[in-house]
Amino acid sequence: MATNFEQYLKHNRQKHLDELFDFLRIPSISSLSEHKEDVKTCAEWLAQSLMSAGLENVKIMETDGHPVVYGDWLHAEGKPTVLIYGHYDVQPVDPLHLWDTPPFEPTISDEKLFARGASDDKGQVFMHVKAIEALLQTTGALPVNIKMMIEGEEEVGSPNLPIFVENQKDLLAADVIVISDTGMIEKGKPTICYGLRGLCGMQINVKGTKGDLHSGLYGGGVQNAAHAIVELLASFRGKDGRILVDGFYDKVVAITDNEKKAYEALHTDEEKLRQDLGVPKLFGEKGYTFNERTWVRPTLEINGVYSGFQGEGIKTVLPSEAAAKITCRLVPDQDPDEILALIEKHIDANKPEGVTVTVEHLDKGAPYVTPYDHPAIQAAGRAYEKVYNVPTSYTRGGGSIPIVATFDQILNLPVVLMGFGLPDENFHAPNEHFHLENFDKGLLTICHYWYELTDAM
Ligand code: BES
Ligand code: MN
Ligand code: MN
Repeated sequence: MATNFEQYLKHNRQKHLDELFDFLRIPSISSLSEHKEDVKTCAEWLAQSLMSAGLENVKIMETDGHPVVYGDWLHAEGKPTVLIYGHYDVQPVDPLHLWDTPPFEPTISDEKLFARGASDDKGQVFMHVKAIEALLQTTGALPVNIKMMIEGEEEVGSPNLPIFVENQKDLLAADVIVISDTGMIEKGKPTICYGLRGLCGMQINVKGTKGDLHSGLYGGGVQNAAHAIVELLASFRGKDGRILVDGFYDKVVAITDNEKKAYEALHTDEEKLRQDLGVPKLFGEKGYTFNERTWVRPTLEINGVYSGFQGEGIKTVLPSEAAAKITCRLVPDQDPDEILALIEKHIDANKPEGVTVTVEHLDKGAPYVTPYDHPAIQAAGRAYEKVYNVPTSYTRGGGSIPIVATFDQILNLPVVLMGFGLPDENFHAPNEHFHLENFDKGLLTICHYWYELTDAM
């Protein structure tokens, strides 16, 4: 039986890629209001795709933001029910001039598929749809019950999803949640992620004089908004990479010896990483490895700073305004709201003289870690091993999927983060791509997983 879906997928590979191209052509950028219609079109495209794969009860469910696409197949009586979550929205594409091919004109080059969303997350969502199709077409049934719920607001922090999940508890009832929206540690190394960092962020606005001023007439007499924000931002971090916000680390759960050993056993080559990233030195909190710093330690990062004259040549001006966007990656047991409050307190205590400072909160989500000895997670590890023929690694991830902690709280189900992306696939950046090797192998892994799961649960 196993060879059946394998043959089906092989035989239909080009057709499936053509369909994925159509999915990727729709510019479903959730953060930009001018793309609202495209996001809707994308939801409609996906709903059609779910239907033609053989899912039932397919519907587009409205939220206060972008819609959720739902579909199910519930005829595996007595077998576990899987809720598959993913997102069909994508990040903006700027800076456009750095793309080698247009972001919404999918292109294959060197066995990699280039397009915005190829890896994060349309490519991976599409694999789940085609795995279902392959099993239904070749065996007429699925070994498990499946509910698919694909949202359109992940890249903006899923602001409307917690209430949706709360309201649709019955519809979403399941035994396990499976998500393919993370990555493998390196090519050929299947990886299950058992933890994600949380997130919180804010915009900081600094307002000085009424308007910009001549730096000859007023320079030396009033505060300069650009200097003020630089001074404030500098106060957030020590030269050693530690965050200097009072209380920032208070609730951080220390890394366990077991985790430390497990991460050492991955033998991450930091020197190779340094070269690949093109930097003279890796940088971060002292006393921790790169993996530890990016998986189990929190950060506060400046994402953008805006102020003053950016044009050609000289302009002797005192900027009257400055702004910065900062975000923190959080780890258990940090709480996004508590951290935002600590940062506000820090700003209050460190704000430079002669300006007014205001803040606006941005997206947030709680951190998440789960024990990976759960049978559903171990079954996923075995499915990967069947296809990749090497042991599965269990790691935490540095990124965030805000709804995962909410799933944990509201639905209280095990979450299996079974991702097929690779760290160098430029998620959120120009030239995002997806390795077709993982498209092919991932499809097989997913099919095997549903069989493994029936035995495991
Ligand atoms: N798929 C990523 C998250 C991810 C990537 C987790 C790699 C682990 C490894 C997701 O789409 C994402 O980008 N999330 C955002 C959330 C934010 C916009 C609220 C993130 O992590 O920045
Ligand atoms: Mn994603
Ligand atoms: Mn993303």
